[in-house]
Amino acid sequence: MLGHDGNAALLVDGRLVASSQEERFTRVKHDADFPVQGLADCLAQAGVRAEDVSTCVFAEKPLQSLFQERTFGQSNLVWRILGRLLNPSLGSDYAAKARQLFPNAKLQYAWHHLSHAEAAFRTSPYESAAFLCLDGKGEEVNATLGIVNHREIRVLEELPYEKGLGLLYTAVTELLGFHSFGSEYKVMGLAPYGEPKYVAHLEKVCATDGDGGLKISWPLGFKQRHEPGVLEEFGRRVGLPLRRKEDPTTQLHADIAASIQALFERELFKMARRLKRISGEENMIFCGGCAQNCVAAGKLRAANIFRDVFNSPVGGDMGSGMGAALLHERTVRKGQAFKVDAHGFYLGPEPGPMPAEAGQWKVEHPGEDVQQAAARLLAEGKVVGWVRGRMELGARALGARSILADPRVGDMQSVLNLKVKFRESFRPFAPAVLAEDAGEWFDTDRPSDFMQYTAYLVPGKRHPIPAGLNDMKARLDFRRCDVPSIIHVDYSARLQTVRKEVHPDFHRLISEFKKRTGVPIVINTSFNVSGQPIVRTAEEAWLCLQNTDMDYLVVNDGIYRNPNQKTREEKLQWLKQFAKHA
Ligand SMILES: [Fe+2]
Repeated sequence: MLGHDGNAALLVDGRLVASSQEERFTRVKHDADFPVQGLADCLAQAGVRAEDVSTCVFAEKPLQSLFQERTFGQSNLVWRILGRLLNPSLGSDYAAKARQLFPNAKLQYAWHHLSHAEAAFRTSPYESAAFLCLDGKGEEVNATLGIVNHREIRVLEELPYEKGLGLLYTAVTELLGFHSFGSEYKVMGLAPYGEPKYVAHLEKVCATDGDGGLKISWPLGFKQRHEPGVLEEFGRRVGLPLRRKEDPTTQLHADIAASIQALFERELFKMARRLKRISGEENMIFCGGCAQNCVAAGKLRAANIFRDVFNSPVGGDMGSGMGAALLHERTVRKGQAFKVDAHGFYLGPEPGPMPAEAGQWKVEHPGEDVQQAAARLLAEGKVVGWVRGRMELGARALGARSILADPRVGDMQSVLNLKVKFRESFRPFAPAVLAEDAGEWFDTDRPSDFMQYTAYLVPGKRHPIPAGLNDMKARLDFRRCDVPSIIHVDYSARLQTVRKEVHPDFHRLISEFKKRTGVPIVINTSFNVSGQPIVRTAEEAWLCLQNTDMDYLVVNDGIYRNPNQKTREEKLQWLKQFAKHA
């Protein structure tokens, strides 16, 4: 447990049975608090009593983090050694909280980055791999390079700066007027509209070396960055203006986004080359918060520095609890080989019952099962909320708490962004494509089961953007292919390849959609509005349906029509509660 996204995971007899994020219960996006509700949910799902929990493992060494904060990020050898010698729980209230919840449990503390690497390894296809954990920070470390297999997990090198690549990306995210730790993907989404004209500007505040050991060269630290005036000073030093949240997004902002993305990719590739040299491994695991950058991950995989790259869908903080628990399991099994079957990462709770009032809006679909009926609605251009079974772990909707739509509809990107999701119009949606058809549409033959990589639309399906069409809005509106709402202006797409073995329910739905339309792709976006955590329960989904312009809601085997009874003012009022996290 712990990290930026409070989360909990439960192993019973060494088997992963549940994992939940605290935000899904408290409804506070990226809630980093002690995951009291997430833990309770894991126990409830498994039918385990709190008194029966034998070991409780944290995905952080709190004392080490405390030393790091107190020494203002200066990598001081004395503190690092002390942190390893003293009781790791000193300086936090984790232990007291855990003892209260689990009176019979032994408490343990795992290194944050090793928790990431372990979760990634146990869910990866490899028996042995090099790993790069690139994060904001884990204790006092920015990046960890190592090797992992069933016998050992070993650190080869650490970049002991909190002022590293992850923090630079975060600082630019804030400079562009977006929230840090959760909105970095918006910068990634904006980048394809721009040119990397400002790389040299960003380099004014950082020193780099040939191995990706970037270090921010002025006192911008993790804690300090939110102090008054620090962000303004950052902008002044790099010679770039601060965008306020309410300001329009312009070409300048797209160029800044393209610049940090280019710099990030360049340094990541350097790190990967170094990792290849020092590890001697053929495969690479990419994990940590920065691995959520699926554009960079897709390019890294295509670059063939390693034979293959696995970008873990649970390599960020949402999977830190799982990783910490699995590190403990590693010691129990003493080097014996084991992998985690995460069942498509549907590790959260069931949606529960629909509110009684929804009954009158239930739609009959005689002669069709729920997938056939939903596929028909989608092919008619309807926007459908899709809530089926246990919810997925992580930031991406994988077909258990999704909003779905037809990617062929020309203005669907704008409709969804402005009437359903209430988010920036520049961001395209992700395609969920039948795995067996992915190669016909995209330039990759490798899986992206959990939306971890971007790929590019094959040239034969592109409509070339006319020369001189430079305006962001005009490029967004140009019909660049037959499925424009899931293809970015550079023809990239954040892909979910849907395999029958991994996501059988979702696979069947898309197969039915293909039967009707000939297109094996649906738009798959997370079931929430901007700033809201993904919906968990049927009741939350029902509320979201009523307060947006979504057309239908599927909850397990029931289909419900939007009553369309809320006034615009009521909807705006409902949306307001999420605005501060948008
Ligand atoms: Fe992390």
